[in-house]
Amino acid sequence: MTTLARSPLSSHAPALDAFHSGFDVEGVRADFPILHQQAHGHPLVYLDNAATSQKPKAVIDAIVHYYEGYNANIHRGVHYLSERATAEYEAARKTVQKFINAASPSEIIFVRGTTEAINLVAQTYGRVHVGAGDEVLITAMEHHSNIVPWQLLCEEKKARLRVAPINDAGELILDEFEKLIGPRTKIVAVGHISNALGTVNPIATIVKMAHARNIPVLVDGAQAVPRMRVDVQQLDCDFYAFSGHKTYGPTGIGVLYGKLPLLQAMPPYQGGGEMISSVSFEKTVYNKVPHKFEAGTPDISGPIGLRAAIEYLDRLGMENIARHEHELLAYATEKVSAIPGVRLIGTAKEKAGVLSFVMDGVHPHDIGTILDQEGIAIRTGHHCAQPVMARFGLDATARASFGLYNTKQEVDALVRGLEKVREVFG
Ligand SMILES: Cc1ncc(COP(=O)(O)O)c(C=O)c1O
Repeated sequence: MTTLARSPLSSHAPALDAFHSGFDVEGVRADFPILHQQAHGHPLVYLDNAATSQKPKAVIDAIVHYYEGYNANIHRGVHYLSERATAEYEAARKTVQKFINAASPSEIIFVRGTTEAINLVAQTYGRVHVGAGDEVLITAMEHHSNIVPWQLLCEEKKARLRVAPINDAGELILDEFEKLIGPRTKIVAVGHISNALGTVNPIATIVKMAHARNIPVLVDGAQAVPRMRVDVQQLDCDFYAFSGHKTYGPTGIGVLYGKLPLLQAMPPYQGGGEMISSVSFEKTVYNKVPHKFEAGTPDISGPIGLRAAIEYLDRLGMENIARHEHELLAYATEKVSAIPGVRLIGTAKEKAGVLSFVMDGVHPHDIGTILDQEGIAIRTGHHCAQPVMARFGLDATARASFGLYNTKQEVDALVRGLEKVREVFG
């Protein structure tokens, strides 16, 4: 067990969480102003981290500091503020590069989020490489944002979307997946961690299978980047997408990683300022990567806030965060599954951060509403993964998802809340 983690930003003495000897969760909580409030007369218990995570003060401060101190448009300015804003924006790109271990900052494209990153690849790489009769391979546990962009592409190109099945535990059936990689497959797109089930997919193995047939792999890392150390070179994936707002950073900013030769060969996504090096009515020459994919004035405060979030995560240590969340998940799995009438949806051996469940005779929305009255925020519904729900014969689940600031005591509050649900519907 590694040592650490005193919260870098809080000034009070360490108060180690009772069930974890290495992670100062109380210190961490002090860094998140939003957590210290009541909801419906109870201390807020925020267990909706897979939807979006809360922001440490360092992130909020970085954004305020930008607007108060050096707001200016970037890249084209010759004045002090613009040069400073440009330097900070590009520094953020380098921070992201190091965080996911990309080979070059040029491989980091700032986008609005995971959704936009996947659409970008479908509309550029996809439109060039996928033709009539070709296939795009995804899995049965994808979020809608890793389904619909490929459906749009397949519809336009008269190509076919193939879907690799999952088993009753919510694990990808690798043999079936491999069989579906065929001569017409042009790209594989797969989630790293399922937002609906918590399943962690064996990305390195999937990439090896696809690369053996020269097929590139896009990874939807929306749920993985906040939860585990991601090394894109080790995974050897070709594209990797994630969102700032799920990674303790701001909304409106996300990242597309792509291997440089692929990005260089791809056509632009959108046209406009910034993505060009020269324009005439006869011919436009595109800017070099990554700017070719960042048309118009970008979200400037977004990367600056994301950088602060990544620095925060780095100070805590992704390994410590992953271990803390695993311990929470194990504790919650044991306690929640022991409640009579509760069935867990998603029981993969490799799981992270997400506990999806249903309760006999109670609609998930009712579970969510009663828990809300106890100050507990969970998510109920299809989690933008309707095909996953269909696979389990459901239209919705209740989902508690954990973040780095959650505690065992909050899991206990969830369990008490669920017992109350039982009583109400008893
Ligand atoms: C696995 C997964 N992929 C993609 C997305 C979409 O992310 P965003 O809405 O930030 O673009 C989400 C969001 O819930 C997700 O959980």
